[in-house]
Amino acid sequence: MKKVSLIVVGAGGRGSSYAQFAAENPDRLEIVGVAEPRDFYRNEMVRKYNIPEKNVFTCWKDLAERKKFADGVIIATQDKMHTEPAIRFANKGYHVMLEKPMAPTARECERIVKAVKKNNIIFAVCHVLRYTTYTSALKKVIDSGAIGDIVSMQHIEEVGWWHQAHSFVRGNWRNEKESSSMLLAKSCHDLDWISYIMGHKCKSISSFGSLKHFRKEEKPEGAGTRCLDCGCEPSCPYSAIRIYLTERLDKGKTGWPVDVLTPVVTRENILKALQDGPYGRCVYECDNDVVDNQVVSMLFEGGRTATFTMTAFAKGGRKTRIFGTRGELYGDSSNIEVFDFLTEKTEKIDTNASEGSILGGHGGGDGGLMESFVSALADNAPSGILSGPDATLESHLMVFAAEKSRIRGKVISL
Ligand SMILES: NC(=O)c1ccc[n+]([C@@H]2O[C@H](COP(=O)([O-])OP(=O)(O)OC[C@H]3O[C@@H](n4cnc5c(N)ncnc54)[C@H](O)[C@@H]3O)[C@@H](O)[C@H]2O)c1
Repeated sequence: MKKVSLIVVGAGGRGSSYAQFAAENPDRLEIVGVAEPRDFYRNEMVRKYNIPEKNVFTCWKDLAERKKFADGVIIATQDKMHTEPAIRFANKGYHVMLEKPMAPTARECERIVKAVKKNNIIFAVCHVLRYTTYTSALKKVIDSGAIGDIVSMQHIEEVGWWHQAHSFVRGNWRNEKESSSMLLAKSCHDLDWISYIMGHKCKSISSFGSLKHFRKEEKPEGAGTRCLDCGCEPSCPYSAIRIYLTERLDKGKTGWPVDVLTPVVTRENILKALQDGPYGRCVYECDNDVVDNQVVSMLFEGGRTATFTMTAFAKGGRKTRIFGTRGELYGDSSNIEVFDFLTEKTEKIDTNASEGSILGGHGGGDGGLMESFVSALADNAPSGILSGPDATLESHLMVFAAEKSRIRGKVISL
């Protein structure tokens, strides 16, 4: 198998996780260049993968100025910084692995797809849920006809109370102007997954949603502006002290989300971040505006329907019920249960994937995606890519339509 070379644009949380594939499979992948403005993350990648100095940059634009020197690029910058690098690197002939969401508008997504097709490159969007052990087992059950033809689907994404507080109230995806809508930032994965499993085109869509809880009006009497200085902190489930210190660092957990607060995880650095940084703010006093609960209804070809719920107010995880003409399926990322209407028996399938490596993230989806992308580049054949340009554009258009429906209060046809 040919050894593949990649460059990384944005060596933050996601960029470094994907690059780990090279550390674990040095005979299959090498990281030969990086663009990252933050010294710590850039230096870490240079050190770990021994990247020559001439291939190290602080901005993707300088990297894109260089003559093409790798097979492909991982683009893992923030949501609003995907379009330009994706198009530039595609135009230079690099194969592209692009973080989701593709881009914050339908027009930008279409521009990216156009550039991908014009240059005939291999392209994968990081819809990691398509690549999990769980999804491939579930898809096999559906494709085997075990539950007949899918008639409807009920899917819920429990973002979880502390994850919502971390990413969507205090963190990078809290404000639509700065990043994107909640549905695009978090649940584009879910609408994409529903569309993948349904296997038919979505015809029309409607949605409701609101920012119900994380608002000034909900702030308890006597609460402070930072958790370190708040009389209500001991009884607040969203306390940053609880989320980052007592429930994680104090129990020896130093990875995500704790390492988002500071690259060098020490008690002192975390306390400093809670004192001065965004992650120590009261959840009722942030500049957040993305929704904390949303529902979406979808009509697919052939009269099939699906509903999706996103909520902050739950333990966390995704659960699905799929209703077919011959049976019913329940799945929750680690278990699948298939009930057969004919035999009235339930078959259970255990799909627990190892989370041991960084690439075990998202139920093995991070590793599964890298495996597919690297293999596709090695063989120069995109057949193993499950999240190519057309499928991804289609599910992103569903997200934009759902948001339009939520804002305008109308059913939107696709
Ligand atoms: N697929 C998934 O499941 C998943 C999960 C989390 C995040 N994401 C997406 O991944 C992307 C990155 O998220 P993250 O958590 O890694 O964020 P991050 O902030 O840790 O990483 C983004 C990096 O881009 C760098 N950057 C900024 N300007 C740059 C420039 N001009 N040139 C090169 N690099 C630049 C930043 O310094 C930062 O290190 C986002 O779009 C996010 O929505 C996807």
